[in-house]
Amino acid sequence: MRLDRFLSECNVGSRSQVKELVKKGFVTVDGVAVKKSDINIDENKSIVLFKGKRIIYRQFVYIIMNKPAGVLTASRDKKSPTVMDLIKDKPAKDLFAVGRLDKDTTGLLLICNDGELSHRLLSPRYHVDKTYLVGCEKPVSEDDLKALEEGVDIGDEEKTLPAKACLDENGDLLLTIHEGRYHQVKRMLEAVGNCVVSLKRISFGSLLLPNDLKEGEWRELNKDEIDSIVFK
Ligand code: URA
Repeated sequence: MRLDRFLSECNVGSRSQVKELVKKGFVTVDGVAVKKSDINIDENKSIVLFKGKRIIYRQFVYIIMNKPAGVLTASRDKKSPTVMDLIKDKPAKDLFAVGRLDKDTTGLLLICNDGELSHRLLSPRYHVDKTYLVGCEKPVSEDDLKALEEGVDIGDEEKTLPAKACLDENGDLLLTIHEGRYHQVKRMLEAVGNCVVSLKRISFGSLLLPNDLKEGEWRELNKDEIDSIVFK
């Protein structure tokens, strides 16, 4: 891979920026300062340092974020902060969120640069479970749980597909769905005469929201976590 592509894929800067940075002598390859960015390197073996820091190439990067309320699931927005604004030193370019959470929804958001995986995780064909902790305005009855599980009319052509619904030890609703319709959870609760007052996603497929990841924080997935979503 060309050095300029390598550096821009690793989000050191745009192609033209990295060209300048290389020219200025900020980059070494295998211990040698280089001045030309059109040289070829081995992206997996060459030791590339930028300002003394090792730059490691990965084709795909996967990030888990605990999304806070008040932040848009978007790449950029003129008015509101976005989830991408929360990722300061982005470990890769072209990152995007896999699906979206409403502005007021908190919890597990997967962000990556792997379009194929994203497509698979979002496709209804693959039935990826998403579990939400739902704070409701009114108590949720046994009949409501049954209706949510069987499928409710939320105003679309089709009722919602079978889901799992139960109450946790605090009486809060845990709802697991594997579709991703617009405002689905809120509309499902409306369909049973209730109203969502807080919504937090606590799992997405095999991924669980880590207890130690505070709202607004993110980290890259570890190898086991990546394997669990990539090879499912
Ligand atoms: N369902 C909703 O209504 N909102 C979300 O953010 C996610 C699921």
